[in-house]
Amino acid sequence: MKRVLTYGTFDLLHYGHVRLLKRAKALGDYLIVAVSTDEFNKIKGKKAYNNFETRKEMLETVRYVDLVIPEKNWEQKADDVRKYCVDTVVMGSDWRGNEKFEALKDLCEVVYLERTENVSTTKIKNDLHL
Ligand code: CTP
Repeated sequence: MKRVLTYGTFDLLHYGHVRLLKRAKALGDYLIVAVSTDEFNKIKGKKAYNNFETRKEMLETVRYVDLVIPEKNWEQKADDVRKYCVDTVVMGSDWRGNEKFEALKDLCEVVYLERTENVSTTKIKNDLHL
């Protein structure tokens, strides 16, 4: 059983998110999504439209997602990899080369997938004037 883990806010779940999750799941058998809590988003200077519980509940309906866990801080990643026996951490290409993920290469495989063009939570908010 190959276990895959990814991180993100996943606000206003969109096509780019679903495509990322579909390709992440295809890299293994079991996909864990660590979703940023509202408190952690504050630390990151991000304000989600949907709160953590809503974002978690929506991700749980996606067929590729097996488990949703909270992402509460920058430091938990190595612990998550060990705790959930993760083989591969996957992120979109905007995170390629980021030290926070590169550091995990001692523990597991780290894969960056190309972002889907022309869609993001920020773009949706801007387009809808949210
Ligand atoms: N992602 C992607 N393609 C997109 C948008 C996001 O592959 N068009 C990926 C990101 O690279 C990340 C995951 O989806 O691995 C969660 O991204 P998140 O930051 O929650 O979504 P964004 O739409 O990028 O949000 P924002 O505009 O607030 O930065």
